[in-house]
Amino acid sequence: MNSSNSQHVLSGMRPTGKLHLGHLHGVLNNWIKLQHEYSCYFFVADWHALTTEYDNTGVIAQSVWEMIVDWLAVGINPGEATLFIQSKIPEHAELHLLMSMSTPLSWLERIPTYKDQQQKLQNKDLSTYGFLGYPLLQSADILVYKAGLVPVGEDQVAHVEFTRELARRFNHIYGRETNFEDKARDAIRKMGKKNAKLYKELRKSYQEKGDGEALNTAQALVETQQNISLGDKKRLLGYLEGESKTILPEPEALLTKTGKMPGLDGQKMSKSYQNTISLRESPASIEKKIRTMQTDPARIRRTDPGNPEKCPVWQFHKIYSTTEQKTWVKENCSSAGIGCVECKQPIIESILAELAPIRERALNFIEEPESVRAIINEGCEKARDTARETLEEVRQVMGLVYR
Ligand code: TRP
Ligand code: SF4
Repeated sequence: MNSSNSQHVLSGMRPTGKLHLGHLHGVLNNWIKLQHEYSCYFFVADWHALTTEYDNTGVIAQSVWEMIVDWLAVGINPGEATLFIQSKIPEHAELHLLMSMSTPLSWLERIPTYKDQQQKLQNKDLSTYGFLGYPLLQSADILVYKAGLVPVGEDQVAHVEFTRELARRFNHIYGRETNFEDKARDAIRKMGKKNAKLYKELRKSYQEKGDGEALNTAQALVETQQNISLGDKKRLLGYLEGESKTILPEPEALLTKTGKMPGLDGQKMSKSYQNTISLRESPASIEKKIRTMQTDPARIRRTDPGNPEKCPVWQFHKIYSTTEQKTWVKENCSSAGIGCVECKQPIIESILAELAPIRERALNFIEEPESVRAIINEGCEKARDTARETLEEVRQVMGLVYR
């Protein structure tokens, strides 16, 4: 990644246990799609796991490799995406530290996940410095690669928003230089008459009318300039929005819209509800879990009519079944034309068919741990090169280069 990063995607996942169908449908299928469209960086957020598992670190070590195997098995392709482990890139920690100096405590305290998670995980003492700083660490993850797009679920959008505020603050404090405006004007001139005119028009539309499209177009225009120095590009980008250079660009959240994967009990599938089917679950266990799954509680006898809307099995049909199958369920459930065992059969088959190739590929990777390690080593090296570049720049603008 370099300064033209708007097409770079970055996302992380905490290694806190086995991956299940919820991860596949909620996150991984989206990553698989994104890897074809963008330059993607996906990483294991082991330091983030530590914020809640600091007294139980064994689960992290075990989950790290399991998770990477699962990623590879579902089709995250190391030829397309860069895969790495957070703690192998110490620059995340350095940027976290440097930004911590100027991060207002109140900004951290008011992020909704802070209090929510403390409430939810009451069996853990989360009144810690590390846990408060969770979103700051996440910001460092994003900004250290200058990522433009961050695929996240609803609950994480506030963290990306916080990252944007921090980036803005950082640029404002450290991107100032004397005679910024003169330098920016010189830089505009260097773009040539036509582009300079276009740049000024777009800047005006953005500044006077808040036209976000114009801002995007102007940013793209600056990024494609061939004969402009990196320093001038940063001035041109910064001048669009304010009076300082853009050192750390603001990322955008790419909201993952997939419907929530239901669990075996109809609630969201989640390890804490114990309603999951893991990606490497054995066929026998999958079959048993579906067979014993709750159905419409009003349907006690085979002859009682049922209502799919009150049945967790129907939630699975919505994800796995064709239109004809769904019509078949709807008609025959409410008329007691089929029994629940019969109704569940296509679900069992769909899940087995979905997970069989994943299980097989996972087994292959488990048999070749060296190849998995090589993939990660390569990803870490690539990530680290980018992170190093950013930190050199950050140290420089913060006045921390002593020669
Ligand atoms: N906090 C994210 C989660 O719980 C994981 C994460 C850590 C992350 N660092 C990130 C996601 C950076 C996106 C970008 O799901
Ligand atoms: Fe649920 Fe299907 Fe049984 Fe109806 S027939 S209650 S949808 S499992």
